[in-house]
Amino acid sequence: MDSKLEVRKVSKRYNRIKVLQDISLSVMKKQFVSILGPSGCGKSTLFEVISGLQLPDNGEVLIDGKDSRGRTGRVSYMPQKDLLLPWKTILDNAALPLVIKGESWPEARRKAAPYFAPFELDGFERAYPQQLSGGMRQRAALLRTFLFARDILLLDEPFGALDALTRSKMHLWLLDIFQRYGPSVLFITHDIDEAIFLADKLYIFSARPARVVAEIEIELPRPRSQELLTSGEFAALKKEVLQFF
Ligand SMILES: Nc1ncnc2c1ncn2[C@@H]1O[C@H](COP(=O)(O)OP(=O)(O)OP(=O)(O)O)[C@@H](O)[C@H]1O
Ligand SMILES: [Mg+2]
Repeated sequence: MDSKLEVRKVSKRYNRIKVLQDISLSVMKKQFVSILGPSGCGKSTLFEVISGLQLPDNGEVLIDGKDSRGRTGRVSYMPQKDLLLPWKTILDNAALPLVIKGESWPEARRKAAPYFAPFELDGFERAYPQQLSGGMRQRAALLRTFLFARDILLLDEPFGALDALTRSKMHLWLLDIFQRYGPSVLFITHDIDEAIFLADKLYIFSARPARVVAEIEIELPRPRSQELLTSGEFAALKKEVLQFF
């Protein structure tokens, strides 16, 4: 099997606080994997380790089979509080990662522009972040993340601050983007329904220090629609997940 990302027995502590304990997980090519875990357990810390911003104390991070500890730039990481630059237009916010990677502004804008339609932002290229709705801002931040490196996305609760209706629309939209572009996704959430609905596989983390307490394959058919949420198979998976809380 093609493992795109593999975390092997990663442990990490901040001074005396043990945050991650022997975390092992894998994401295959074009696989959507959710991580569900209590607040403060160490999920964002794991993303910092995977993206190379923090070094693990023990363990390995393999990307395409290569040791990637402490190496940034290989995966796209959308942090929990992702802020668009308020003084730049949405087009320039989206194009920024390409500029960071060395392209000129006109070239970066030219490459970013075609994604405004699939990211449901067309017509807002010249708008500023404060002129967008919460959902649109998150799609703009997702577009920026996607343009940085489109094969592995680490998304840290991207929909956490949205209202329930906007959130369920965003789920369908994200699934559509996932089908269309086929990235490998690692997705952090506190929301059990969201974790199951989006994913091919789900890891449940314990309270701090985070350990993997369960790995559950989500064998629900794709493409998925909202009817799935009220199906018997979905309810059965939810029951299986709930027993760990
Ligand atoms: N840079 C840091 N220095 C010291 N301690 C930190 C640092 N970052 C996080 N921590 C601590 O590590 C623990 C885990 O934090 P982390 O942000 O990874 O949790 P989380 O699972 O993402 O929580 P949430 O669901 O609330 O976002 C917390 O106790 C936090 O205080
Ligand atoms: Mg977090």
